Amino acid sequence: MSNYFINAKVKKSRINKEIYGHFSEHLGRCIYEGIYVGENSEIPNVNGMRTDVVEALKEIRVPVLRWPGGCFADEYHWKDGIGPKESRKKMINTHWGGVIEDNSFGTHEYMELCRQLGCETYVNGNLGSGTVQEMSEWVEYMTFSGLSPMTEQRKANGHEEPWKLNFFGVGNENWGCGGNMTPEFYGNEYRRYQTYVRQYNLPEGEEKCFDNKNMVRRIACGPNTGDTEWTEGVLKTLFRHCEESLHGNAEGLSLHYYTVPGVWSHKGSATEFDTKEYYRTLCKAHYMEELIRMHSAIMDHYDPQKKLGLVVDEWGTWYDVEPGTNPGFLYQQNTMRDALVAGLTLNIFNKHTDRVKMANIAQMVNVLQSVLLTEGPRMVKTPTWHVFNLYKTHQEADLLDSYLETECIGEEDEYQIPNLTESASIGQDGKIHITMTNLSPDKSYPVNVVLTGCKPEKVNACILTEAMGAYNTFDEPENVKTCAFDGVEITEEGLKFDIPSCSVLLIEVA
Ligand code: AHR
Repeated sequence: MSNYFINAKVKKSRINKEIYGHFSEHLGRCIYEGIYVGENSEIPNVNGMRTDVVEALKEIRVPVLRWPGGCFADEYHWKDGIGPKESRKKMINTHWGGVIEDNSFGTHEYMELCRQLGCETYVNGNLGSGTVQEMSEWVEYMTFSGLSPMTEQRKANGHEEPWKLNFFGVGNENWGCGGNMTPEFYGNEYRRYQTYVRQYNLPEGEEKCFDNKNMVRRIACGPNTGDTEWTEGVLKTLFRHCEESLHGNAEGLSLHYYTVPGVWSHKGSATEFDTKEYYRTLCKAHYMEELIRMHSAIMDHYDPQKKLGLVVDEWGTWYDVEPGTNPGFLYQQNTMRDALVAGLTLNIFNKHTDRVKMANIAQMVNVLQSVLLTEGPRMVKTPTWHVFNLYKTHQEADLLDSYLETECIGEEDEYQIPNLTESASIGQDGKIHITMTNLSPDKSYPVNVVLTGCKPEKVNACILTEAMGAYNTFDEPENVKTCAFDGVEITEEGLKFDIPSCSVLLIEVA
């Protein structure tokens, strides 16, 4: 029996809705086909955006969407993607499959997509191969309302009012595809570029920090996985001679981490795996916790007041592509194993919301750990979509103090994982939401919840559970889906239940 203690009286930090964010890149069939089919498509669409996809994304309350890359961002020249579509420049997408990018999806289309989704905007600028002027003018084009050449151009292209730009990334993976820079070099480049990312709408005297919603929050390129040398080098450079700002003139620092079960040359199949590989995958996903602690410790040194958010703007599983598909398109299936990766990772993010302010799963449709897959006019919700649907109740709720007794499980000494993971939050309406994953592929566990500061009157629960390799296909889209769970009992102390093997459980306590 695992005892699980929740103290409803101890509210920790607010769980930013942005932790449930997404990422969409001009890569494979993410933007084109997956999201944008054009106004003349036979696939039902509104202003070119697939209706089925937009509806499914609205259901999980996508809070923020990062675009246009990824590695693509540091090769993207935004002016190629505005104006009449027929005269937009065509280019080769050298990073991703060498296909022709016709730029028919650009700034206006991205803003329209975010409008339809009702989500915040996160545009990633080009520091690697773009100029300071180009970056500065993009921000002006998107956000300035006064008289200026960029404003005039935006108006001529059909958009009178500026858009709300919530976040702006100053380069992507500049330690790699974004220019192969050293941390100090990037840090200095960041300082120069961000100077011209103007805040046109920030009231005088307001503090700059991640939580200030009036500003364009600038995200500096952070480390890859466990590269603490990058974190240290960039922060040292950002904070040097920076007395006027307590947060190094950035509101966020990114972290990229992908869960790869094997090695880069043989990552492993998305659907064909044994229990050893299953445990290995979950163990590697669980490494996120250590990464957050590691990089947060360095951030705490420079920014003890936590004004700078850790932004995990690329995370998720990365397998070998589906057989027969373009290797540059990164198209992969999504099983119950992915659902558990999502469930355990989101629980980790929830527990670190004092520092983790945003996260963006890679990527939204048809690429890596997608929530949706499409094939022509058909669309399927993946097991990962169902996890985002269960966890949406945590958005903007307060994290509660909780502790769960766990045991280690696994088949190899170096790939041991906790059997269960959890997080609990309380919403503005006083309802408590608990999300728990059982990572064992074949064992259920009894859980005894000791709830302090709240007497449960009513309980609702919903579960996603299937065999570890189960997945949805276009012909069988409901192999994996959530259903009501009636196994939760109210007790004197709180609750008790048996959590089924290989499952993600949501409990609502009123
Ligand atoms: O998400 C795919 C790629 O992974 C992104 O373009 C890049 O930033 C990362 O290496």
